[in-house]
Amino acid sequence: EINACLFDLDGVLVDTAIYHYKAWRRLANELGFDFTEKDNEKLKGISRIQSLKLILEWGGIKKTSKEIEELSQKKNDWYLEMIADIQPNELLPGSREFLQELKDHGIKIALGSASKNAIIILDKTNIRHFFDAIVDGNMVQASKPDPEVFLIGAKLLNIQPQQCVVIEDAVAGVEAALAGNMKVIGIGDKGVLKEANLVVASLAEMSIDQLNSL
Ligand code: G6P
Ligand code: MG
Repeated sequence: EINACLFDLDGVLVDTAIYHYKAWRRLANELGFDFTEKDNEKLKGISRIQSLKLILEWGGIKKTSKEIEELSQKKNDWYLEMIADIQPNELLPGSREFLQELKDHGIKIALGSASKNAIIILDKTNIRHFFDAIVDGNMVQASKPDPEVFLIGAKLLNIQPQQCVVIEDAVAGVEAALAGNMKVIGIGDKGVLKEANLVVASLAEMSIDQLNSL
């Protein structure tokens, strides 16, 4: 039986994955190289610093830790500019409706995001009140695919991992859920999110019945 739903944020509830991608590409371009949408899949779900380190590796560029700190700040400034005017209409299809359906059925809801900007986005899109627990990038040590972010969420909700389902758009996030002994629903492409228990194109396809059939 499923008693809790743990949501990733970027690319699951809100259409912000595209802004992360744009800001990272702008940084790479400024450093003199580019990366593809396929490479970008590897950046989804991992922390800001880890993303930057991976990108620098792709570009074959070495930086000091001070420079890395400055570059990550630069990317985040661009990202914050892009999300400054984000509105509830940038919620992905079905997000709000599915959160409401879960609430109506008494299923606990948590956020499990690597982002340090999660709260700003939940506020601007008007969905913060749905969450019984919020775990974001400011609260975790280990990045997905480590299950820490979801295990803390389950603990705060006081629900066993086996009774939780995670909703993720990132390969690292799917792996984190499985490593935490949770069920996982992928949002996106079946070919990419191969290990998920179920993959749907968007939350608009989700229902309570589907949760219980996992
Ligand atoms: C999420 C996104 C990543 C992002 C990370 C850190 O996991 O999928 O693309 O890099 O959060 O986000 P932040 O807002 O803290 O830079
Ligand atoms: Mg995501």
